[in-house]
Formats: sequence, C-alpha cells, structure tokens
Amino acid sequence: METNKKTMLSGIQPSGDLHLGNYLGAIKNWGGRSEDYDCFYFMADLHAITVRQNPADLRRRTLTQLATYIACGLDPEKNTLFIQSHVRQHAELGWVLNCYTMFGELSRMTQFKDKSRKNADNINGGLFTYPSLMAADILLYQPDFVPVGADQKQHVELCRNIVQRFNGVYGDVFKMPEFYSTKEGARVMCLTEPSNKMSKSAPEGCVFLLEKPEDIARKFKRAVTDSDTERCVRYAPEEKPGVSNLMNIYAAVTGKTMDEIEREFDGKGYGAFKPAVGDAVIELLRPIREETERILADKAYLESVYKNGAERAGYVAEKTLRKVYKKVGFIPR
Ligand code: TYM
Repeated sequence: METNKKTMLSGIQPSGDLHLGNYLGAIKNWGGRSEDYDCFYFMADLHAITVRQNPADLRRRTLTQLATYIACGLDPEKNTLFIQSHVRQHAELGWVLNCYTMFGELSRMTQFKDKSRKNADNINGGLFTYPSLMAADILLYQPDFVPVGADQKQHVELCRNIVQRFNGVYGDVFKMPEFYSTKEGARVMCLTEPSNKMSKSAPEGCVFLLEKPEDIARKFKRAVTDSDTERCVRYAPEEKPGVSNLMNIYAAVTGKTMDEIEREFDGKGYGAFKPAVGDAVIELLRPIREETERILADKAYLESVYKNGAERAGYVAEKTLRKVYKKVGFIPR
C-alpha cells in the first residue's frame, strides 16, 4: 500500500445526475494517472445532505455515480473509489478541523452564499461548515493535487489556510495540497445562460452524462450564441460568452486549439458550429453511457468495488486521524 507516488484526491456530491461540467471540470482530469499517482475518488454523500435529499434518489445516484466513474476509465484496481460515509474518519476529522476554521472564513464562501439563497428555508449548520469537512476529505489522504473545477478553488484555498494554521501549531502534520485544473474545462457555462456555470438547477442549459443523444443534440442546437453581427466562430469570452463557452467545450472534447477551431468553422457561422459541438459531445458520452448501464446492472460487482474502496481509504485515513488525535492531545483508547 505504501508507495513513493504522489497522491491525487477528489470527490463529487451525488446530489444530482452527473453533467458535462463535472466531467470536463473534474473527472476528465482524474483518469490515466494511476501509474504516477495514488488516486482516491469518492462520492461525497455526507456533503450532499447539506441540502435535503430524497433517500432513495440519494442511494440511486451514489451507485450510478460510482458506475460512471468506472465507465469514465477509473479502474477500481488502480484507483481507490469509495463512498464518503463509509469512511467514518471524514466526519471525525471534519469535527476537529471545524475547530481550526474561522467563522469569518466560512462566511466568505461563495458556495455557502449561493446555496443559502437557493435553500432559504434550510440554511443549516452543515451547509455553513461544509468547507471544514471538505478540508478533512482532502487532508486525510495527504494529496499533492486536488483536481476540481474553478468553482471549488475557494474551498481548496481555505483548506490550505487550515493546513497553515494547524501545522503552525502542531508541526508538519498535513501536506499542503495544490488546486489542479485545466483551462478549457475549469468553468463550463450554462448553454442557455452562458453567464452562469453549467449546473443541474438549469436542466435545459445542462448536458447530463447519461442523457439520450437526441436530447443532447437538441440542447446544443438551442444553445444561446451571441447577438453580435459578425456571427463568426471566434474566441472572445468577454464579448462572445456563448460562442466562447461552446468553443471551450469543443476544445476540451476534441483536444483542438482555439485557432484550429476558428479555422475549421471559418465562413461557416453558428448554424454549422452548434450541431458540430453537439455531435462531438454525443460521441464522447456514448461509450460512457453504455458502459455505465452495463456496470450498473451488476450490483454485486459495484458492492465489491465500494467495499474494497472503503477498506483501502479507511486504512490511509486512520493513519492521519491517529496522528491528528495525538497532536491535539486526545488519549488513545
Ligand atoms: P460538486 O459536487 O459541486 O462538483 C463536482 C466537481 O465538478 C466540478 N464542476 C464544474 N467544473 C466546471 N464547470 C462546471 N460548470 C462545473 N460544475 C461542477 C466541480 O468544480 C467539482 O470539481 N465540494 C465539492 C465536492 C467535494 C470535494 C471534496 C471535491 C467534497 N469534498 C474534496 C474535492 C475534494 C463540490 O461541491 O463539488
């Protein structure tokens, strides 16, 4: 188990069906690294209940998410895939780190402000202290990198502040983690309102990973482009946010540069460009959807994956938690 490899860790809340933003912002950067990294990826179900969830939906989404991770190429033999609530050390370290996170810091978190607005009747303590639990998720595994979309950068920075504060008192307990992201995928915007990030709360502007090809095609055809007169495919995020978002998606999916994309659609206009982006996304997602459905049918296999994952994750997490308990002055049982 012990290696000299670097470590990567990330998670996604099973609070909605996975979408293209989750894929391009996070999952895409997780794969193919297991030769060089010890990789830990999890379903953040403890985080999901900061917003009220239907229990049956939460269970279904958690398993579907696991199947999708595998379908996206994360081999459970080479990556530790687990369910957050199966590794109790997350909640335990989360409590300790709460005591090293400042009220002022938590109050400044954009996600907290956003979610409080959207769930005004349920602004609970968990929603407020969410970033301390996220810091615990990260620090239990001492990762070098945390691959997430740009919207999570603020939380990773808060985690880094916690490391500094904690290590400042107790010595070198936690490794300082780095935020990791790629330019094209970091912020996938809503197809119908390109000033907002793509999110499940605006389903017509959001492409879900397991969605039918005809629905994906429709969403891209209806994607908002810009009301400029030139109508040409040119990368200009400020001036042309709609087209630039589609270009980012196309670049992230095909690996083409912005120059190549501009040349490809030179003189063709938005009418040719939008369906081409849709087709590229459909082809990207087709094997993921088919493979997810196949894996999801094998419940015994999924169960063996998450049981093994919890065991491997728990082993690493316990080592860190013990060290922390000792440092803060708890008596070992
Ligand atoms: P969550 O569940 O909201 O999103 C999961 C991942 O998807 C990325 N993402 C996006 N990236 C680009 N464009 C978008 N439109 C878009 N929407 C979502 C997010 O940046 C994230 O990487 N707090 C985390 C979950 C979490 C976590 C952790 C992550 C809990 N503990 C520990 C890393 C490490 C969250 O709410 O992500």
